[in-house]
Amino acid sequence: MNETRRLHASTERFAASVALPGDKSLSHRALVFSGMAAGDSLVSGLGNGADVLTSAHVLGQLGVRFHPDGSAVAVSSAGVGAWTEPAAPLDCGNSGTTMRLMTGALTGQSFTASLIGDESLSKRPMDRLVEPLGVLGARISTDDDGTPPVVVEPCDGLEGAEIVLTTPSAQLRSAFELGAIQASGDSVVSSPPGYRDHTERWLETMGLGERKDDTFVVHPGPVPATKYDLPGDTSSAAFLWAAAAISPGSEVTTPNISLNAGRIGFLEVLERMGVEVDASVDRAILGDPVGTVRVRGTTLRGVSIDGPLTIAALDELPLLAVVASFADGPTRVANAIELRVKESDRIASTCEMVRGLGGGAEPTADGFEVVGLGWLDGGTVASFGDHRIAMAAGVAATATRNPVDVVGSEATAVSWPDFYETLESLWSSR
Ligand code: S3P
Repeated sequence: MNETRRLHASTERFAASVALPGDKSLSHRALVFSGMAAGDSLVSGLGNGADVLTSAHVLGQLGVRFHPDGSAVAVSSAGVGAWTEPAAPLDCGNSGTTMRLMTGALTGQSFTASLIGDESLSKRPMDRLVEPLGVLGARISTDDDGTPPVVVEPCDGLEGAEIVLTTPSAQLRSAFELGAIQASGDSVVSSPPGYRDHTERWLETMGLGERKDDTFVVHPGPVPATKYDLPGDTSSAAFLWAAAAISPGSEVTTPNISLNAGRIGFLEVLERMGVEVDASVDRAILGDPVGTVRVRGTTLRGVSIDGPLTIAALDELPLLAVVASFADGPTRVANAIELRVKESDRIASTCEMVRGLGGGAEPTADGFEVVGLGWLDGGTVASFGDHRIAMAAGVAATATRNPVDVVGSEATAVSWPDFYETLESLWSSR
């Protein structure tokens, strides 16, 4: 499939409040934690993107059962120690989070499991799992070039271990931690900062870990069956914040979303660009903050970002390139080398998208630079099969001088099937 969608700008301002579908990162975790727990869990507010369904499907191949319960999903499992040997490879589709978290969860099994993915996932690095899970005693292998299939073989038992990760990857940390809770003793993990610490917060609340200085100590034990009331998706909300940011005088409110510090770097970047931002915490889910964000567009100035702030805004960097194009002055993004190994090479795809819209963007050694012209013209751009590129182009289209054709527009289904309709609805809610 390669659908082309034509999008037109609006010169009108908007003021809207939007309820977002369930958070993708937290939906994966709620499913994996529920599947590892022995007993019945209940997940409400589950995300509706293809990636989340993929995690459910993979757990289903291992004997975990799902039943609708009103608007929630009931998850029944015999527990990670009683998962059944899958009859076929575990198909992780486009979802790197599914592949990495499930590899960690599978490390203690007495059967061999093979994890495969679609064309994009089959090119992504999985060899980064081998050492961290290997020090626990797990037997993990990948293709010679470090890509899927990932094969998890039975091992002689997992032991507590210490690992220092050089990449601030939440997926990698989570994989290690989900293996480490099945080990015979405590484990310790550390990495550079900026990552989303959802898994650590949940483990800490469940008594399965604690923070010590800059490290996280994992205490082995069973994951309890529990209830998860998931918030809306912060990374989806970001597209609406960006639409407001490039429309001076427009504003959007996104209630009930994750406010984990590793998720809201983009808000800080918007603030530095001159955007009016309010964020308030309303509740927590298993120790992880949830709240409301309001964003109001004004005139924008270019910024430079680096270090942990880049990591905390990582999934929003294609979107930042769009916002930066509407700003006055250049924007520079550093410490973003991980973008090279996302659903597309997001340094290349982001720069190409911006150029396809008549803007200026160039890759740098570990990120990119955008020329802030204050406007984008429009044109035809490819999604590169990457949901966040398609949606960033969709946001650009709300303010371009001419229409935008997004080729491969259906890629949004991975995280937000209703993206285009929701974006359009911003103008009808006043
Ligand atoms: C995710 C972590 C991030 C992020 C991805 C989701 C998660 O990846 O880019 O979209 O849910 O743990 P890394 O932390 O591996 O960079």
